[in-house]
Amino acid sequence: MMKSTFLGLSFILIIQGAFAHPGFTTEQALPGTTLNTSMAVNHGCKGSPTTEVSITVPEEITKIEPVELENWTLNVEYRNSSSGQQGNSTQAISGFKWSGNLDPETPQEFGMVIDIPNLDVSQGNITLYFPTVQTCANATIEMAGTEAPHIIVTSEIIVEHDHDHDHDHDHDHDHDHDESGAPGTSGPFANLVAASVLGVGYYILSN
Ligand SMILES: *[C@@H]1O[C@H](CO)[C@@H](O)[C@H](O)[C@H]1NC(C)=O
Ligand SMILES: *[C@@H]1O[C@H](CO)[C@@H](O)[C@H](O)[C@H]1NC(C)=O
Ligand SMILES: *[C@@H]1O[C@H](CO)[C@@H](O)[C@H](O)[C@H]1NC(C)=O
Ligand SMILES: *[C@@H]1O[C@H](CO)[C@@H](O)[C@H](O)[C@H]1NC(C)=O
Ligand SMILES: *[C@@H]1O[C@H](CO)[C@@H](O)[C@H](O)[C@H]1NC(C)=O
Ligand SMILES: *[C@@H]1O[C@H](CO)[C@@H](O)[C@H](O)[C@H]1NC(C)=O
Repeated sequence: MMKSTFLGLSFILIIQGAFAHPGFTTEQALPGTTLNTSMAVNHGCKGSPTTEVSITVPEEITKIEPVELENWTLNVEYRNSSSGQQGNSTQAISGFKWSGNLDPETPQEFGMVIDIPNLDVSQGNITLYFPTVQTCANATIEMAGTEAPHIIVTSEIIVEHDHDHDHDHDHDHDHDHDESGAPGTSGPFANLVAASVLGVGYYILSN
């Protein structure tokens, strides 16, 4: 029973994954923590290779470090420090992009380490949106507004069952929300589900 349910879910995830658009591999975080996550690009646009992945950082984030990747050129843009008392030493990053050439059938994760601000989530989750543009050789996928890839800052992380034998752990009572099968899990597939749910929001521009 458990097994067939699991297989059924995996099947759906794989099908959805084939059509998913860029999203974070881990998209839940506690306030004031450091989140090591990545933007997963699962495929090119209509069979054309990905040449650029451009991400805009929400203003709430003052420290974020995109990871350098072999065969990709990383360009970082900074906020204008002249406004406000932003300080002089480290300028906040407003956005970054990786440029390269990725086979349309090859998935790639673009890593980044994010200092999650110490937001007050006692009244509810706060979602931080990272507008993202995936540019391909002859098409562009833009994910903006509430359809953009996002990090949910929350007081309660829903833990994904990574291993089949996790069920006997003493903190199992924390996992009640997980049993519904809702796409609220973290981990590699969470973004696929989220992107699929939000799939109506993106649009494709062709030259
Ligand atoms: C982030 O995760 C990646 C992959 O697991 C790992 O290689 C990297 O060292 C991590 N970075 C930090 C700062 O923890
Ligand atoms: C993109 O280019 C490829 C190869 O040149 C072509 O096969 C494909 O039809 C093009 N796709 C679009 C959406 O123009
Ligand atoms: C980088 O590009 C070279 C030359 O095409 C290739 O041999 C190598 O495997 C690539 N590295 C990665 C990590 O994709
Ligand atoms: C950024 O700040 C500089 C001065 O430090 C100013 O000349 C420039 O116009 C500002 N740019 C924007 C886009 O605000
Ligand atoms: C730069 O900022 C630091 C701390 O924010 C401060 O201690 C230092 O005096 C500042 N330096 C200048 C030249 O303003
Ligand atoms: C807050 O986020 C957690 C984890 O993603 C989720 O389980 C919970 O349902 C969210 N709460 C609300 C009110 O959206």
